[in-house]
Amino acid sequence: MKILHIDSSILGSGSLTRILSAAVVAEILAHHPAAEVSRRDLVETEIRHLDGAIAAGFRPTGFGDFDDATVTEHGVSEALVAEFLASDILVIGAPMYNFSVPSQLKAWMDRIAQAGRTFKYTEKGPVGLSGGKQVIVASARGGFYADGPLARMDFQESYLRAFFGFLGIADVHVVRAEGASKGETVRSEGLERARAAIAGVVAGLHPAAA
Ligand SMILES: Cc1cc2nc3c(=O)[nH]c(=O)nc-3n(C[C@H](O)[C@H](O)[C@H](O)COP(=O)(O)O)c2cc1C
Repeated sequence: MKILHIDSSILGSGSLTRILSAAVVAEILAHHPAAEVSRRDLVETEIRHLDGAIAAGFRPTGFGDFDDATVTEHGVSEALVAEFLASDILVIGAPMYNFSVPSQLKAWMDRIAQAGRTFKYTEKGPVGLSGGKQVIVASARGGFYADGPLARMDFQESYLRAFFGFLGIADVHVVRAEGASKGETVRSEGLERARAAIAGVVAGLHPAAA
């Protein structure tokens, strides 16, 4: 079993999603001690945003005649998609920033969405090629979005589900800490609720990944 452990919070040791994603990986390892873990910290080692020349490495953009820096970036895209394709379980620390995911995580998503590798176009529309993988999102938000009037403002978890669904991954689980900006008591309660959900999510992972 190969686990890809990704973090994208800019808040370092104060980050809830980093605590939660580490706890998820630890729980998986408790059940599957032989699992291999690859680590990708998208803040420590930032991925450049796409530009036309970088994107041309894996999609037609009309850009050519690449300089050395761009060729290096094409290699980065290839390494990222290969790492994603090799993984069975993705554990992704994904905070809500401005109602969506951090731009660091978006930059990673932009590199792995590759036609012919992780999805394909067919006459009947796009088809995901990444089925069989499982994703656990360690989510945190300052407010409350799971229920109530702000649910429609959640472009973070809903976006991740849509994105991975597009790649063919329906198996997306979320452990969620809400109310992180509502004072220490509410923040701690949100973190503990998310922690308490981890064992159940990991126990429910598809055995094919073992
Ligand atoms: C740049 C930034 C943008 C944020 N935007 C939102 C937001 O749109 N909605 C919200 O409820 N909380 C927002 N927050 C609060 C974070 O979601 C909250 O602090 C959460 O704990 C972040 O995850 P982390 O602790 O792993 O960094 C934002 C925080 C930061 C730093």
